[in-house]
Amino acid sequence: MRLTVIGTGYVGAVHAACMADIGHEVLGVDIDAERIAALTSGRPPFYEPGLSEMLMKAVATGRLRFTTSLAEAAWFADTHFICVGTPQHPTTGAADLRYVEAAVNGLAPYLHDSGYERVLVVGKSTVPVGTAARLAERLQAAAPDAEVAWNPEFLREGCAVQDTLRPERIVVGARSEQAEARLREIYRPLLDAGTPLIGTDLATAELVKLASNSFLATKISFINAMAEICDATGADVLTLAEAMGRDSRIGPRFLAPGLGFGGSCLPKDIRAFTARAEELGRGESVAFLRQIDEINTRQRSRTVDVAQRLVGGSFADRNVAILGAAFKPHSDDIRDSPALAVAEAIRRRGAQVRVHDPEAVDNARSAYPVLQFALDVAKACEQADVVLHLTEWPQYRELDPVALAAVVRTPAMVDARNTLDPTAWCSAGWTLRALGRPRFG
Ligand code: UDX
Ligand code: UDX
Repeated sequence: MRLTVIGTGYVGAVHAACMADIGHEVLGVDIDAERIAALTSGRPPFYEPGLSEMLMKAVATGRLRFTTSLAEAAWFADTHFICVGTPQHPTTGAADLRYVEAAVNGLAPYLHDSGYERVLVVGKSTVPVGTAARLAERLQAAAPDAEVAWNPEFLREGCAVQDTLRPERIVVGARSEQAEARLREIYRPLLDAGTPLIGTDLATAELVKLASNSFLATKISFINAMAEICDATGADVLTLAEAMGRDSRIGPRFLAPGLGFGGSCLPKDIRAFTARAEELGRGESVAFLRQIDEINTRQRSRTVDVAQRLVGGSFADRNVAILGAAFKPHSDDIRDSPALAVAEAIRRRGAQVRVHDPEAVDNARSAYPVLQFALDVAKACEQADVVLHLTEWPQYRELDPVALAAVVRTPAMVDARNTLDPTAWCSAGWTLRALGRPRFG
């Protein structure tokens, strides 16, 4: 089948490459000409495991092409996936829908003469509930046979290719059987491999995404709230999480305590959901999400405070090493990165801060030019008075505490992601602190 993917960011580039991989002819569209040029030569504009190889292959077969022209998109296919971003509005916290609207408004005028009978515009972007219905009305004014469906994505950065090709569910909100049938056809190889498709109305489909991300954020903040109680009682939040997670009704995933959630989705989605619920007069139904947000950001200041205590109460003239800049491992995405928020807060308190990350240094440097960066861990830790482990890249787990102790000024570590082995670090002479855990060393 032929389809277009409008917006080739983290979601769109992966979706376009995966759709070509399962056999479709795909045209990726973006307003960013530089990005389109990179993608055309098979280079992804960001780091995502497996994407580069898949992109190269799909471009080489000719099944995946790219353009900046919405007119060409309208002519190329009768199914258009909208994957542009929906960032947080800077003052209201609501979702900023201008890019979704620009994409649909930009495509609409060309649909009438595209020669296709039933055009389907499929939203994947995360939008406030009610957006799809509004876009459908707008679209029909321009092209009466055009229809809107909503098909939220649930992919996690760092395993986005696998999440797209082997999702746990596909959700399709549509107003007609034909629209749902077309999406079933597009996703046929995934459905044949056993992925369930849940067909529903537009509003429910929009809501599934917001409710799912809110639930995940709630799980993380719940365990971080428990870490605060552990700090006050001497209990150990890691053991608590493990014991809770063994209850199959609760489950162990998204119960990892520590620095909390960041990234382009969970923080902005809970704020946008709150703003939309308030607009609907149902603010009280999701009022708890404000607390989820507060608990989450509090873990950042708690981490800074733990480090400050370790350096004797003041960061002035102290060297601080930060391990991790990406908002999570296996990604170079630094959007709302808890690690960089902590690094910047420590710098503001007077320390010299040097940051290491295996993939995200370039992005971090352009967003935070005031921070210093190092390309290897030993360099970042040279003469450090404290080291903070803030993004749990697997290579940090493999670090040799003995070797690193010889590089730093004081062997003091804050493990804000709870993946280092306290026994190994303490045996090498380190003092190790973690939120909600006993003191080590
Ligand atoms: C996606 C979603 O679609 C968003 O709603 C969800 O909450 C997170 O994931 P993401 O892929 O992260 O967004 O966005 P981003 O990486 O910023 O990419 C958006 C792309 O759309 C960019 O390449 C941008 O140039 C492009 N764009 C933007 C257009 O092509 N047209 C526009 O009008 C605006
Ligand atoms: C999330 C959703 O998981 C995905 O379904 C949706 O489509 C987009 O938003 P993503 O933002 O890529 O995906 O990352 P995710 O793996 O959900 O992690 C989000 C943040 O939570 C990261 O900063 C991570 O470090 C943090 N996290 C995750 C925890 O602090 N504890 C956990 O137990 C899990």
